[in-house]
Amino acid sequence: MYDFKIDADDTAIMYRDLASALEGLVAGEPDAIANMANASGLIFETLPDVNWVGFYRNISGELVLGPFQGRPACIRMTFDQGVCGAAAKTRQVQRVEDVHAFPGHIACDSASNSEIVVPLIRDGELIGVLDIDSPKRARFTDEDEAGVVKLGEILSRIL
Ligand code: SME
Repeated sequence: MYDFKIDADDTAIMYRDLASALEGLVAGEPDAIANMANASGLIFETLPDVNWVGFYRNISGELVLGPFQGRPACIRMTFDQGVCGAAAKTRQVQRVEDVHAFPGHIACDSASNSEIVVPLIRDGELIGVLDIDSPKRARFTDEDEAGVVKLGEILSRIL
């Protein structure tokens, strides 16, 4: 059993502990599905105020749903669709304070109001994206972005 019990009171310490827990969880495991599944569980259980955490994988230039925690979600997106598509196309983190104001946002869970999507890139190749949704507007701060980007770096190395 894994019981990480990461304290979320201090955001910087939470992301530090989350990164080290993630490193430990994926260490020595080559299976990408297993690692994405555990990563989504760990992040979902640790971050306050999130309702969806998961992966979209780049399969032949299309984003295909991967392991996640939350409600069942849209299965496929092109790089021209949604916040995830924008992250994949631009290869830039997308931090959206109000998803309802984002042109082309795909609503998988009507409870979602803000979102952060981090592209996962290794050796110049886009592996996929890590998508985190929140029911709170403007949930994700600069500090969250820095922390989630770190998680993305760990994941990019092993997926
Ligand atoms: N909101 C996303 C779609 C995926 S769900 O949030 C899980 C988007 O527009 O990219």
